[in-house]
Amino acid sequence: MTSTNEIRRSFLDYFGSKDHAEVPSAPLVPFSDPTLMFVNAGMVPFKNAFTGLEKPPATRAVSAQKCVRAGGKHNDLDNVGYTARHHTFFEMLGNFSFGDYFKEQAIDNAWNLLTKEWGLDPERLLVTVYHTDDEAFELWKKRTGFADEKIIRIPTKDNFWAMGSDGPCGPCSEIFYDHGDHIWGGPPGSPEEDGDRFVEIWNLVFMQFTQENDEIVGDLPKPSIDTGMGIERVAAVMQGVHDNYDTDTFKALIGASEALTGVKAEGDQTASHRVIADHLRSTSFLLADGVLPSNEGRGYVLRRIMRRAMRHAHLLGASKPLMHRLVPELVSEMGAAYPELVRGQALIQEVLEREEAQFRRTLEKGLKLLEEETGELGEGGTLDGETAFKLYDTFGFPYDLTEDALRVRGISVDREGFDASMAEQKAAARAAWKGSGEAASEDVWFDIAEREGSTEFTGYSSSTGEAEVVALVKNGVEVESAAEGDEVIVLTNQTPFYGESGGQTGDAGRIWTPEGLEMIVSTTNKPLGRLHAHVAKIGRGNVKIGDAVHLEINADRRDQIRANHSATHLVHAALRNRLGEHVSQKGSLVAADRFRFDFSHPKPLSDEDIAAIEVEVNEEIRSNETVGTRLMTPDDAVAAGALALFGEKYGDEVRVLSMGRKGGKGRNYSVELCGGTHVEATGDIGLFKIVSESAVSSGVRRIEALTGEAARQWLLARDEALRTIAGALKTSPDEAALRVAALVEERKRLEKELAEAKRALALGGGSAGNSDSADEDVGGVKFSGQVIDGLDPKELRPLLDESKNRMGSGIAAICAINEGKGAFAVAVTDDLTERFSAVDLVRAGVEALGGKGGGGRPDMAQGGGPDGSKADAAIAAVREALTTENA
Ligand code: ALA
Repeated sequence: MTSTNEIRRSFLDYFGSKDHAEVPSAPLVPFSDPTLMFVNAGMVPFKNAFTGLEKPPATRAVSAQKCVRAGGKHNDLDNVGYTARHHTFFEMLGNFSFGDYFKEQAIDNAWNLLTKEWGLDPERLLVTVYHTDDEAFELWKKRTGFADEKIIRIPTKDNFWAMGSDGPCGPCSEIFYDHGDHIWGGPPGSPEEDGDRFVEIWNLVFMQFTQENDEIVGDLPKPSIDTGMGIERVAAVMQGVHDNYDTDTFKALIGASEALTGVKAEGDQTASHRVIADHLRSTSFLLADGVLPSNEGRGYVLRRIMRRAMRHAHLLGASKPLMHRLVPELVSEMGAAYPELVRGQALIQEVLEREEAQFRRTLEKGLKLLEEETGELGEGGTLDGETAFKLYDTFGFPYDLTEDALRVRGISVDREGFDASMAEQKAAARAAWKGSGEAASEDVWFDIAEREGSTEFTGYSSSTGEAEVVALVKNGVEVESAAEGDEVIVLTNQTPFYGESGGQTGDAGRIWTPEGLEMIVSTTNKPLGRLHAHVAKIGRGNVKIGDAVHLEINADRRDQIRANHSATHLVHAALRNRLGEHVSQKGSLVAADRFRFDFSHPKPLSDEDIAAIEVEVNEEIRSNETVGTRLMTPDDAVAAGALALFGEKYGDEVRVLSMGRKGGKGRNYSVELCGGTHVEATGDIGLFKIVSESAVSSGVRRIEALTGEAARQWLLARDEALRTIAGALKTSPDEAALRVAALVEERKRLEKELAEAKRALALGGGSAGNSDSADEDVGGVKFSGQVIDGLDPKELRPLLDESKNRMGSGIAAICAINEGKGAFAVAVTDDLTERFSAVDLVRAGVEALGGKGGGGRPDMAQGGGPDGSKADAAIAAVREALTTENA
């Protein structure tokens, strides 16, 4: 028996020997075609090579391409398991000519491989051609010598192949194998063609045209060849079986499923084993190519396939999750040809097990409800749409799973009712949103979300991508197109642009086409939490709905954002280590140039706290540990030690980020739930520096910090400031602090000396700027009047006391001038207080200074006025008062 692995190798080698470059299978998620959900044919990765947009890898190529058909145009999910040849996953063997050979050589090669190399009996083969393709008819006739009845002209689109509604296409010629008259069925084009006797094994497409919206719009630059042979079908032929599920690969997978469930693949159980074997292949390959289960887009198709298999595992009585335990068998069958399965094995098993464990929690209850609601229904009955919706909404039953569950009993489901219930729920969500007071103009987002579904985010793993424009919003309303100079919000079916959420700033970048469109995206928002809205200005060209565009984020900016976001996780952990478990995140802002992190803590951080946190975070950065991302249920994540943010809402799955070195219990330094984008290893953060710590509100503190180059620049600026200071001090930066301390000391000493000098001056000899201090005789009373510039008013009293001592009997007055103002005091020796009151005398002087009042006792009083320039007048006023009194 020729194994499937041998057939694949033989096909590749055969065309390799005919100068075809062997091209490895492309991933299942198409990167060059945003309109397609999954790669569904061998030619998909070469689409742009056929149309001339890209250079082909060689003029001739050969591949074994992974394909998934489940969702979108070729949707085979419903039939899988119940027929001999339907699959969600299959491999397509194909040879390609890009403007090199055409019909004749394609037919020649195919015939030679089948009949000579593989030794198939020509008697068992027959072919079809498109009804108008006389050339192909003649070529087949010449090559095979077939009678006219064995070269069948088909007028339908069965013999006109197109990848989708857009792209290259052309007439085709199919090769059929006759499995023998023990099986019912007739040749293609006959009334019995739907039977299973004649099976198409190889399709040769003569690529000539390109189409848009199912209409031919032009010729390909050069006629080309695309062929596709389903390996499962040809394996059945070469292994002498009729049913694909009886080929070696499937027998191995079904055998493993039988062994683990203890249930033979017989009777009613056959379909369940087949569903499991087929879906195991598609889900494992999708997971290996980076698709993860979710409630939207590709992730939802994956989840539908998984859950369908899981229900069948349950039907077989599997008491615990089954799918992940079958993965080793799949890897041993297909891992050599597809090493991504080997690389992804751990992840595939983990995700399958988690999804199955999670689904089993509601499966029983859902099935019970289904039983109750359909108990009365007989064959031909219909389950109401409301119940189908409840199963979907509450129990996680995708619509087609409910259909599948009722299929064996001949019961159908009211699809319209299901859709109506779904629409009702959406309307309720919209009403609730409006009721929440958020702007009613947000209606536009609901319309878009309802029509287009959520935007698929592809930016965890790549910074560029291609997408289809699905909506344009200008001035708050949807438009069909926008032109150069317009400011417009652009929505696409998928995008690598992160939409602002969870504190992380949205991405900036550009959206463009090779035809000359260029839009500059300043930021990306995330209305309704599920649409990625690119805020753009059209720099060049026009854009319209349906355009296929290239998207490219500003990757340097994103790298800075990544570093800052990862640093918030490390800071969070460091704060908890240093300050205690009461610390929890209260908000954050992660921008490209800086970040801030708010957290609960009752008092300011000390300098020591800040220093310790910086040390810890920088140590984790330098450890350069790889950052781990895993998807888990929220409960499992919390059990694994993840910090869940209070008040956040999570879907079925959460992303769990593990960062830094492993500590006790094998747990990483930081484990948090987070949907943001992060560095690959902590070393990418580079450097971490806290630049401020402040209060936000009572009990909430805020740290602002920098990472990487921004942190380095900040430290550089500090260093420069220090150099400037050192330069001014004529010393080195290392000595600057000592020098400043010495200067401060010196200044204190000088101030003291200055004060003493002024005092001495007041008591002793006169000097410039001060009026004469010699005692005078005013009407027989000894009087001393002085004006002292810059004298501290506090010195007035002690100075006057000394004057009194010196005079023995007399009156002293001093006016101190500071900052333009005058402080004035008068002292009267005790023997004279009967005759003169210091209070009255001060008032006279204060008046001269433009002030009012003054107070004290008869022997010592003090006051002041705004006009210090009148100091001499104040002294004169006292002299005057003494004269008047004496007269
Ligand atoms: N592209 C062709 C097919 O998928 C060969 O059938």
